[in-house]
Amino acid sequence: MPKVIYHAPDRTSHAVEARTGASVMETAIKHGVPGIVAECGGALSCATCHVFVDPAWLDRTGIAADFEDEMLDDAESPRQPHSRLSCQIRLTDEHDGLEVTIAPEQ
Ligand code: FES
Repeated sequence: MPKVIYHAPDRTSHAVEARTGASVMETAIKHGVPGIVAECGGALSCATCHVFVDPAWLDRTGIAADFEDEMLDDAESPRQPHSRLSCQIRLTDEHDGLEVTIAPEQ
């Protein structure tokens, strides 16, 4: 099971064990990590699951696909080069140790 480390807007950090196949968003919600709203439940229609992926992990998370990329333009917090919508990152064992910072405004 991959461990994911979340850095929340309230400056707390949360290291949680994720289920392989779950998304970064689903894992945060399941473990009560503060900051991710996920209004649409992962349907890629709200942009309230915005995270900044630690740049060292971008080669393993990949970059946003076209539609996700467009949605990031409308995110409440300004996007950064390593922005992703966390509902679109599916966890595998190769993500063990992944670090993401939750965008301050969702
Ligand atoms: S939860 Fe709505 S776009 Fe990710």
